[in-house]
Amino acid sequence: MSMLAIRAATPGDRAAIHAVETRAFGRRDEADLVDAVVAAGDAVLELVAEEEGSIVGHILFSRLRIVGPGKPFNAVALAPLAVEPSFQSSGIGGALIREGHVRLKQAGETLSVVLGDPAYYGRFRYSHARAAGFDSIFQGEALQAHGFGDAPTTGRLAYAAAFGSVEG
Ligand SMILES: CC(C)(COP(=O)(O)OP(=O)(O)OC[C@H]1O[C@@H](n2cnc3c(N)ncnc32)[C@H](O)[C@@H]1OP(=O)(O)O)[C@@H](O)C(=O)NCCC(=O)NCCS
Repeated sequence: MSMLAIRAATPGDRAAIHAVETRAFGRRDEADLVDAVVAAGDAVLELVAEEEGSIVGHILFSRLRIVGPGKPFNAVALAPLAVEPSFQSSGIGGALIREGHVRLKQAGETLSVVLGDPAYYGRFRYSHARAAGFDSIFQGEALQAHGFGDAPTTGRLAYAAAFGSVEG
């Protein structure tokens, strides 16, 4: 019987998270990015999915600032999301996203932005329409947002520094 648990990541999970991210994407880039975001203190929420003591999924929401005429607004960016290949398509990715949204709302966050496939993220209430007004080098159908409170609809998206020069 499945014993999936979703919980907050802890410092002791770093190696297992790195391994899951690497296997899911077939390269180290996303795993290294996660470590860099966390090391810089820009992780807002990080969850793991645990199956019988093994970490089989991981999601990171990092600080994303929306820069407008006034004070920058604190939103979050969902990236990356990874599920161990042999555990994919069993609902783990969805469970991580949904639990992430619940915890973000509890923490007072109001807007999450993602760059990804609308066919997947649309299942979790992300839409391009909600993100269409933002200035970003990623502007396009893949740029989606899910708002769950008062948040801007315009402004420039500024990602955490570990995303490199990914800003605009
Ligand atoms: C994308 C990913 C996180 C989804 O996690 P998951 O646990 O497999 O997803 P779920 O079980 O919640 O949902 C599975 C459904 O989503 C669909 N799906 C998975 N990835 C998809 C994608 N990129 N685009 C569209 N649909 C996708 C599956 O076909 C499946 O559809 P079904 O329910 O009709 O069978 C996982 O497949 C993964 O780690 N992929 C490699 C890394 C990656 O691409 N991450 C996302 C970019 S940040």
